[in-house]
Amino acid sequence: MAKYPFTCALVTGASSGIGQEIAVQLGMSGVSLVLVARRADRLESLAARFKNVEVIVADLSTIDGVGLVEARITDSTKTPIDLVVNNAGFGSSGLMHEIDLDRLSREINLNVLALTRLSHAAAKLMVPQGRGYILNVSSVASFQPGPGSAVYSATKAYVTSFTEALHEELRGTGVRVTALCPGFTRTEFSEVSGTNSIASQVPNFAWLEATDVAREGLRAVTRGKALCIPGALYKGVSAFSGASPRALVRRITALPTRRR
Ligand SMILES: NC(=O)c1ccc[n+]([C@@H]2O[C@H](COP(=O)([O-])OP(=O)(O)OC[C@H]3O[C@@H](n4cnc5c(N)ncnc54)[C@H](OP(=O)(O)O)[C@@H]3O)[C@@H](O)[C@H]2O)c1
Repeated sequence: MAKYPFTCALVTGASSGIGQEIAVQLGMSGVSLVLVARRADRLESLAARFKNVEVIVADLSTIDGVGLVEARITDSTKTPIDLVVNNAGFGSSGLMHEIDLDRLSREINLNVLALTRLSHAAAKLMVPQGRGYILNVSSVASFQPGPGSAVYSATKAYVTSFTEALHEELRGTGVRVTALCPGFTRTEFSEVSGTNSIASQVPNFAWLEATDVAREGLRAVTRGKALCIPGALYKGVSAFSGASPRALVRRITALPTRRR
């Protein structure tokens, strides 16, 4: 069992997939947990497996929901949180102008605004204490534009850029900030994001397991890495995107939409 330097971790999107795995690995290591998501039943059954677990049922695409979590991070009467994992997120699939605008707004609110506000609350708490950890879950989709999921890729480009900037801003403060950038990972993501038809074409070798992604992310933030890209395949994909002319990368990423 891994040993982590955290006392109390707040994990958003802990009811499923990568967030649930992060919560399980932390819980098994004896870290106190604050679990956040909308599905109370899932959070409660996860909470029942470990000691010292709080549950916050919140819709992080709303300002009220984010406010509940900000209030917990800054609540000095409760166990101080020294790891914040901004993991909750979802995508949308299709041509941007054909996707419901309210859905896209919720996606931006969750993937960008909630993550920014909770990172702000965490940094404000942790910097004066000279210690703390922030793990923001981004995606390999952040390294290139994503025709067919334009808003999702753009939100993740924000997350990676923002998190790397924060990593540098907080260098030397004792607060470690990491962007976790997984590729295709077996979770409920494709179902929720309407990308099942794309996911079904992804070969077996390209899939990551949420347990491995969670483990690598926790290890990376413990070590103070700026960026964590699990799996050799996705390290290669990201390096290719970074080293290639933007026009070429753009054209390659547009191929699936051209075939429609
Ligand atoms: N799976 C992949 O292939 C993949 C690849 C790269 C990056 N990622 C990223 O990994 C992160 C986790 O996704 P996942 O793959 O684990 O997907 P998932 O299984 O669908 O889990 C998403 C989590 O986010 C929570 N969530 C969604 N909307 C929310 C809202 N409005 N308020 C609060 N919580 C909300 C969900 O809980 P409730 O529904 O209970 O609220 C759930 O716990 C996301 O940021 C995603 O973009 C995933």
